[in-house]
Amino acid sequence: AATAKYTFTVGSMRISQLCKTTDIIAVNGQLPGPAIEVNEGDAVVVNVINASPYNLTIHWHGVLQLLTPWADGPSMVTQCPIQPNSSFTYRFSVPGQEGTLWWHAHSSFLRATVHGAFIIRPRAGNSYPFPAPDKEVPIVLGEWWNQNVVDVESDAILAGQLPVESDAFTINGKTGLLYQCANDTFTFDVEPSKTLAGHNFTVVAVDAGYTSNLNTDTLVLAPGQTVDALVTTNAAPGSYYLAVQAHDTLTPSTMAASDATTATAILNYNGSTSANATPAMPTMPASSDAATANAFYFGLRGLTTPGAPAVPTTVDVSMTIELGLGQLPCDPSQTKCSGNAVAASMNGVSFRLPSEASLLGAHLTGTKGVFDADFPDGPPPSGTPMTVATKVKSLKYNSVVEVVLQNPTAVATENHPIHLHGFNFFVLAQGVGNFTPGGVSYNLVDPVSRNTIAVPGGGWAVIRFVANNPGMWFCHCHLDPHVPIGLGVVFHVEDGTAPGTALPAPPADWVGQCDAPHYAAA
Ligand code: C2O
Repeated sequence: AATAKYTFTVGSMRISQLCKTTDIIAVNGQLPGPAIEVNEGDAVVVNVINASPYNLTIHWHGVLQLLTPWADGPSMVTQCPIQPNSSFTYRFSVPGQEGTLWWHAHSSFLRATVHGAFIIRPRAGNSYPFPAPDKEVPIVLGEWWNQNVVDVESDAILAGQLPVESDAFTINGKTGLLYQCANDTFTFDVEPSKTLAGHNFTVVAVDAGYTSNLNTDTLVLAPGQTVDALVTTNAAPGSYYLAVQAHDTLTPSTMAASDATTATAILNYNGSTSANATPAMPTMPASSDAATANAFYFGLRGLTTPGAPAVPTTVDVSMTIELGLGQLPCDPSQTKCSGNAVAASMNGVSFRLPSEASLLGAHLTGTKGVFDADFPDGPPPSGTPMTVATKVKSLKYNSVVEVVLQNPTAVATENHPIHLHGFNFFVLAQGVGNFTPGGVSYNLVDPVSRNTIAVPGGGWAVIRFVANNPGMWFCHCHLDPHVPIGLGVVFHVEDGTAPGTALPAPPADWVGQCDAPHYAAA
């Protein structure tokens, strides 16, 4: 295995988007930032230089970080933030993982412009469990705000409200031609093959776990999720739109096929004389079309290969996590908040990040008073008021954990993408309505393995994972505005006793106690 080294300089970048020229925070002057491209088993070293005016961290979303929890990245969970003019070097490796993941800032709202792809190919001598593609095109879907995104978030927190919605969707940082003042369109060229037919996707992996081939004309991704899909270029030579729209089970469809809420890229056949003609718009599902989303999500199956981890059949820790949205009295220090502030909870606990020490730092130094290890295993009786606290759920090393994630029908019909750091979990079952124990059959044969599950609005999902990675692991809604209002929890996986199952000493340059951060000056 090799060592892949990168330098990420996070700083200001000038960009024109939606009729305005603004400065954003980006990595190495690129949006999206540089793709990390490695082979399974490689070591990865990323020196992050903070040349921005904001505190920041970078998270390697979906990388398991086995025995390197300090390299995971969420600010105040596994490290103190890297202050302006400081640097920190993330060191970890990627054994046993193949496919496409991504990386992003994990502090304030910076993720909106500080993100990129993280591609893990099989190691030399190994091959994909599908025909190797002729060409790979990484595509990162994003959202664009006209305002400074750090201000968007802090204004919302001050006012006790959710942040304003984004002004555009993007494909590789570009809005495409359907928006007013589109800056540019991401275009990629392909070689035509000979047969003629429509384009379909064959999904071969999600969240860096192989799937058995699902054929579909629509890919469904929630924030945080990744998909590897094959496309055969066997349509009539020409240009085709790849279109991205929001899908939401809350609002009825207001999106026509050509309005300014659709990001587009263009797939262009080389040598085609019709390449510059107006590409045809695909027919998109309505934004309220739950059937399409469910057909995609419920149709995914894991690829059962020899040596792939099997689904554990016995459960040691069984929990329900009920998602809650509601209100709390305004924090008196938030002067623009009047009356109540929007808040979210898991099992009635609105999660608050600590401020004096990261959770991992407090754990490793035995500092008391930073968190309580009494996160409840189920929801409180209905009507119990929400509490604000820093609670973790402790898990014995190697315990098998099953979690029923319930998005109550009584609360809202918004889909919450719940992301677990440090693990991939098996998705055993999911459905709409309230989960009824015993009334559901689990897929213990070939469930899909993911790091982020879109829990349907007014629905549920059952996930199972093995707590075989000691550390502090954030589990939270991947809709960025829901993190500061408390839609998260942290799992603390204890050390094992056998050799190689306990955390070694953290690296000397890592900072976990934040009263006097002392990352190296950059
Ligand atoms: Cu991709 Cu904690 O996030």
